[in-house]
Amino acid sequence: MVLVGKGCSALLNNWAFIKGMTMTKETFQFQFEVYAGVDELATADKQLVEAARIVTEKAYAPYSKFLVGAVARLKNGALVSGTNQENAAYPVGICAERVLLSSAAMLHTNIQIDTMAVTYHNTQGDSSEPVSPCGLCRQSLVEYEERQGGPIRLILTGMEGKVFILETSGQLLPLSFGSGDLKVT
Ligand code: THU
Repeated sequence: MVLVGKGCSALLNNWAFIKGMTMTKETFQFQFEVYAGVDELATADKQLVEAARIVTEKAYAPYSKFLVGAVARLKNGALVSGTNQENAAYPVGICAERVLLSSAAMLHTNIQIDTMAVTYHNTQGDSSEPVSPCGLCRQSLVEYEERQGGPIRLILTGMEGKVFILETSGQLLPLSFGSGDLKVT
């Protein structure tokens, strides 16, 4: 049957209702802080960013020439850093964030990460827009938060310019897969 006329779209819009369906729509949103530059940050955050910018020099990124540096402050005040470590077999390379998380887990077992600053130096381009963790790193960050039972604050930036601050890394990975999904019944 072909429906024409004014009532048609109203009828179609209410189709779910008419059929007795229970479909709903959910919205995910989060807020983060945006700063024009590192000078607007609290001293401890600024120091973390400056350390991350320096540590980019330790990246091993001969293929991408995109040097990523991450430095985290733990709850006991210790600092842990990581840089990307690439490999001629490209997929073997590992991101700065996951190098950092592995180091923190080994060197400071059971000490929570409070805040992680991530930055990058694109040696072949611009480095003034904040970087954001890749999908694999988001997954690792979410699990690390779960494991330590508390949020990892994220400070994202480049070698200059804008800075984003997120209260928890998990905001970057809504509807994430996690240990709860592997429950055995
Ligand atoms: N990379 C990181 O280390 N962290 C990120 O958040 C994004 C990407 C690295 C992976 C690779 O060595 C290079 O940057 C280019 O993708």
